[in-house]
Amino acid sequence: MTKERTHFSVSPRLAPLLSAGYRSSEKALKELVDNAWDADAEKVTVTLPEAMSDAPLVVADDGTGMTPDEVREVYLAVADGRRNRQGGSSAQKRRKLKGRKGIGKFAGLMVAAEMQLETTARGKRTTLTLGLADLHAAVARNEDLEAVDLGLTVVDAPKSQHGTTVTLSGLNRKLGLPSREKLAQLVVREYGRAQDFDVVIDDVKVGVADIAGKTHEITFDVPGVGPAIGTFTISEKPVKNAGIVFTVGGKVVGDPTFLGLDRDPELPSKLAGNIYGEVEIEGLHDHVTADWGSFVENSEGFQNAQEQLRRLVKGGLEETHKMEVQLAKARHQKEIKRRLAELPENRRKLAQEAVEKIFKKFPGERDDRIETILSVTFDAFEVDDYWEVIKAIDASTNADVATVASVLADFGLVDMAVTAQQAQRRIRVLDSLSVLADDSATLEKQVHAVVEANPWILGNEYNVLRSNQTLKNTLGDLVDKPSEDERPDLFLGSLPGGRHVLVEFKRPSHPISRDDEAQAEKYRDQLSKKYPDIDVVIVGRERAQKVDPQYEKPRLRVVTWSHLISAARLEIAWLLEHLGTDARRHY
Ligand SMILES: Nc1ncnc2c1ncn2[C@@H]1O[C@H](COP(=O)(O)OP(=O)(O)O)[C@@H](O)[C@H]1O
Ligand SMILES: [Mg+2]
Repeated sequence: MTKERTHFSVSPRLAPLLSAGYRSSEKALKELVDNAWDADAEKVTVTLPEAMSDAPLVVADDGTGMTPDEVREVYLAVADGRRNRQGGSSAQKRRKLKGRKGIGKFAGLMVAAEMQLETTARGKRTTLTLGLADLHAAVARNEDLEAVDLGLTVVDAPKSQHGTTVTLSGLNRKLGLPSREKLAQLVVREYGRAQDFDVVIDDVKVGVADIAGKTHEITFDVPGVGPAIGTFTISEKPVKNAGIVFTVGGKVVGDPTFLGLDRDPELPSKLAGNIYGEVEIEGLHDHVTADWGSFVENSEGFQNAQEQLRRLVKGGLEETHKMEVQLAKARHQKEIKRRLAELPENRRKLAQEAVEKIFKKFPGERDDRIETILSVTFDAFEVDDYWEVIKAIDASTNADVATVASVLADFGLVDMAVTAQQAQRRIRVLDSLSVLADDSATLEKQVHAVVEANPWILGNEYNVLRSNQTLKNTLGDLVDKPSEDERPDLFLGSLPGGRHVLVEFKRPSHPISRDDEAQAEKYRDQLSKKYPDIDVVIVGRERAQKVDPQYEKPRLRVVTWSHLISAARLEIAWLLEHLGTDARRHY
């Protein structure tokens, strides 16, 4: 046995890296699991100490291990830019490497005061000890970190042995012990699909059950094939390699699949990324392709299994999001009722169904976005062309079963397509408005006309702003300026619930001053006898002076055309994006 002094060959960059830290002790420990992966291990076991004990935490892998030279030249070479080997792959198993910066090993020192490494490769077993205190002291004394003595020892070992064990002792009590649950959740999200890499924490192999979320145990019968048995989880967070894998005799067939649920118009597409499961169907053995990459295409058994599974998983997704959907619906209920009431009686039922679909498709989405899509959808129902399409679909429900099935399958897409058309129309409106707003020759009444016909431009809450002759007459009495030039351009609209909005339009060539604000407020005062609840909005090219937001007047909003237009564009862009490619294809 030889004992030698070994020094860290590090760049001074180590100091900040060491203190950088990890957000949790579990994240730190995962670095050590990553190292086992990079070393082509097939199994890594993590043993967590029991609470209140002084036992160490041990991470042991059966990977390649390191020779003494590798320990000195690779393991101990820290964080110099040259070793930034992005995108490399491991020597034996061609795994995509996780490490890159050469600092992962220090993660252990966030959890513990001392870290012992024992690694075996090619007939040599090497051990060394890394102390947090030593490193900190060196940093504090501003000494070269190479001065740290690591007491490396080398002994002979059987040639066939390989692997690495990291033992962490003097655990950091302030952090609390790492929890199996949290570590397993981190690990399964990353390695859950790896076939040749088992992570065992406290004697239990990490697997599907460690995904945080609602887990469903399932069994069903596939006619002519036999039983299907499995589990799936609706994860709380998106999972890497999400989807369901089929196994036959324990062996995975092909890639994970979403069973088409990612394209289901009734489901939010991003939710598919939260599905994680495995289903074993032993009876499908003869239906697997020669390369074991999929099932033979015309396998009725496989198709039947997929279909049954699709229904089960969809049920799981819907169950998990039911609560969210119901709450969202309640928040928008008033508006929905109102818009439904405005529709001709015979269109209401189908509009109601479309609304249901919207809530299913966008659970947990921001309320203002839901408002946008609701309003665009209701707009669509008010358009007669669209109504013809829906009616045709509805009529076919009396036709034969096959037609009905296919029409129903399409219905969601048609819905979305027409909604997308409406969204496109809004974009065209915004395009022409921005041309007007950029032209200094534009008159107030021109922009006025556009906004009056499209009050949604003012923001989601003004979607339902309506004017009528009475309101117009009131305004006529208000302004009695003699010449057309001096007369202000005003629009008075009513909102449900007795609120009113007074919009004053300024031509693009006129910057909005404090005097303009004062004038607008005077109009409000005059109107307030008749209409007590009025918001004022002044729209123009720009403000004459910069105004600190804290000096903004209550219920008086000064906005620029470019601001209004870009805010409205953002909403629509978001909507189009989320209607999905299928919807966009239709126009
Ligand atoms: N468990 C292990 N088995 C074999 N080699 C390891 C192990 N842990 C670390 N190493 C070697 O030490 C190097 C440094 O590890 P680390 O500090 O995690 O940085 P990185 O993973 O970014 O390279 C690794 O690149 C690898 O060559
Ligand atoms: Mg690493």
